[in-house]
Amino acid sequence: MLFQTTEAHEALRAKVREFAETEVKPLTFLLDKENEFPTEAIEKFAKMGMMGLPYPKEYGGAGSDVLSYAIAVEELSRVDGGTGVILSAHVSLGSYPIFAFGTEEQKQKYLVPLASGEKLGAFGLTEQNAGSDAGGTETTAVLEGDHYVLNGGKIFITNADKADTYVVFAVTTPDIGTHGISAFIVEKGWEGFTFGDHYDKMGIRSSSTAELIFNDVKVPKENLLGKEGEGFKIAMSTLDGGRIGIAAQALGIAQGAYENALEYSKEREQFGRPICQQQAIAFKLADMATKLRTARLLVYSAADLKENHEPYGLESAMAKQYTSDICLEVVNDALQIFGGTGYLKGMDVERAYRDAKICTIYEGTNEIQRVVIASHIIGKMPK
Ligand code: CAA
Repeated sequence: MLFQTTEAHEALRAKVREFAETEVKPLTFLLDKENEFPTEAIEKFAKMGMMGLPYPKEYGGAGSDVLSYAIAVEELSRVDGGTGVILSAHVSLGSYPIFAFGTEEQKQKYLVPLASGEKLGAFGLTEQNAGSDAGGTETTAVLEGDHYVLNGGKIFITNADKADTYVVFAVTTPDIGTHGISAFIVEKGWEGFTFGDHYDKMGIRSSSTAELIFNDVKVPKENLLGKEGEGFKIAMSTLDGGRIGIAAQALGIAQGAYENALEYSKEREQFGRPICQQQAIAFKLADMATKLRTARLLVYSAADLKENHEPYGLESAMAKQYTSDICLEVVNDALQIFGGTGYLKGMDVERAYRDAKICTIYEGTNEIQRVVIASHIIGKMPK
């Protein structure tokens, strides 16, 4: 398909870019060093009405579209990949399942504060023994009268204790596989719901990642999302959209590294001329620009398909896999262009190099993306 952004998309890009440059960029070194969450910046971003871009105004959102949201993640990630994933996990993972599968009461109670940016969302799927094999969920939810009793734990959860509202997946009917998994809306502060320590991560250190621990947590029956047994499908269709967010994050990280390397290559002189005029560097820049353009088309067209309610699971898997793969190549080339200078702590390109790697791992490893892509092309592969 042919793809073009509108003036409104580009105006939004300019607005988010200015925010990222003025409110996030000055903090990046410290956030990365201290493993610190950009609380004030996220609050300001929320006040700008950016935390619910694709959701309708009647549910607290901006009434914009999926592409605007992808552009916002891209622009935050261009400056700081950690800040980008905070938005992505909130919009795609924490809010979307409530928007798509919630009752009117659930939307009023939980989506409105999420989409308006008053509250932050998170998504609890991954467990110690259920990573790529999400169907291996072991957390349980047992119905006792008017509530479910939740027991178990989730690992690698983005936004973790910074969030207020969680969509959590648990087994309600054992021994029937994915059809026995259900989804629940869980609130921070409920008795028995605690957090593990923050992970000390290689990159995206400004985002908060920790374990969720459930010890006899009473979840009201009305917080079941969808029907019993629909949890796995809710998780999978949520991840179809989430992967657009991670693709946009990878795109932004790569774009930032590319721009930094381009600028540096025009200033840095060796052998009597700027290094961008040496063919070895010029060709690297040419390849980086081509990869970025290809990736951007994939990401934006997946967002556009989702916006237009067309099937997009194949395209979002392609966008996530391709963009995160080329992101690693682009940040590697960018650091190479900087040479020894780029290897130093405090350099944006050094942080981008570390931030990039996670994009090939979370929201489905790139191996799982290839499973998804292949299953669309040739049908489901035997287990
Ligand atoms: N949408 C709706 N339903 C779907 C679906 C989709 N995209 N994909 C599968 N389903 C349905 C199937 O139709 C099937 O339904 P029936 O049984 O009724 O026929 C059911 O779900 C089971 O499907 P599969 O047999 O294909 O499931 P599987 O067990 O083989 O798993 C998988 C498929 C693609 C490997 C899946 O487990 C998967 O995506 N794994 C990766 C998990 C993942 O991405 N985790 C990321 C965690 S979140 C995160 O990382 C957040 C963060 O920090 C930012």
